[in-house]
Amino acid sequence: MTDNKVQIFDTTLRDGEQVPGCKLDTQQKLIIAERLDLLGVDVIEAGFPISSPGDFKSVEEIARLVKNATVCGLTRAVKKDIEVAAEALKYAVKPRIHTGIGTSDSHIKYKFKSNREDIIKRAYDAVAYAKTFVEDVEFYAEDAGRTDNEYLARVCEAAVKAGATVLNIPDTTGYCLPEEYGAKMKYLMENVKGIDKAILSCHCHNDLGLATANSIAGVVNGARQIECTINGIGERAGNTALEEVVMILRQHRDLGLDTNINSRLLWDTSKMVSDKMGMPVQPNKAVVGSNAFAHSSGIHQDGVIKNRETYEIMDPEEVGVTESAIILTARSGRAALAYRSKKVGYELTKLQLDDVYEVFLKFADKQKEIHDEDIHEIMKEAKIQTQV
Ligand code: KIV
Ligand code: ZN
Repeated sequence: MTDNKVQIFDTTLRDGEQVPGCKLDTQQKLIIAERLDLLGVDVIEAGFPISSPGDFKSVEEIARLVKNATVCGLTRAVKKDIEVAAEALKYAVKPRIHTGIGTSDSHIKYKFKSNREDIIKRAYDAVAYAKTFVEDVEFYAEDAGRTDNEYLARVCEAAVKAGATVLNIPDTTGYCLPEEYGAKMKYLMENVKGIDKAILSCHCHNDLGLATANSIAGVVNGARQIECTINGIGERAGNTALEEVVMILRQHRDLGLDTNINSRLLWDTSKMVSDKMGMPVQPNKAVVGSNAFAHSSGIHQDGVIKNRETYEIMDPEEVGVTESAIILTARSGRAALAYRSKKVGYELTKLQLDDVYEVFLKFADKQKEIHDEDIHEIMKEAKIQTQV
């Protein structure tokens, strides 16, 4: 694989929407899909058309609306699912059917009560059938994370032979370690006959907090698509977070990989998805959490005020944040107090700052954070009138 572009396959509207209590209606899905298209994702997984009439309608309307991204619908390796997905996608400029089957021993034994050879046949048949409707067919080997590599390679080979353009290798249960997931991709790159006709895709779940690390290990070892969701939402502990993998590849240029994402839209997109889904983003969430560019300890604040790079590896503007926040708390020092005071109109001399700082500490010890209105109170008590 020589292409260094990593395709971003967004599944916020399918795997992401499987979050308990986060049902979206068609109108909300259309708004999110339009934003994802603007953000520059390569593929939008719009839903699982056979799952309900509502989901069918959403996929159909998203297929009509989206002009740039490929629009994808999920199916099981079942003829009826594939027919319904093809119908829902018929207006898409670039349609993709995403079909597949469980390949781990536990899925084969307990879910399908079947055997390995039968699963290979079902995988082949599903892809071949999907190919009769659309050119672009992605195959998923569910629970590939716990499937042994030799057998997984045989399943993938059958899918490629049937015409799959993408081979999705899901760590469905979020079990793999990054080294293990990376080695799995490497093994498939080296052992699947016909792999040059398809790309490998990472689809990682976050049960052990490793979804992002596993996805990066996957692309470092040859995969060229990452399946992810905005804010990492998804069933249980969620999916790989789109904003994290995009910014990792952008910050680590040495990896030689990049995406088509307009990162300046990440912050607003995160807020929009969080609002629509009623799923708050944790404040310490990487890249899009409210504290991601906020500094509250005196040492860090002094450094950032002198030069942002001392404690920031990303320019906040790159992800759509206008500037880093200097939070005033009892841990803040004079530099931060002078900086924030100036922002609300007080240019302090060194002597004034010493006096104000004493008053500030009294306030700060009593409350979690000092806001702009508190600064005016502090100035009043310190008898500072001059405003710039
Ligand atoms: O996690 C998973 O295995 C999936 C597949 C259905 C693609 O979401
Ligand atoms: Zn999944």
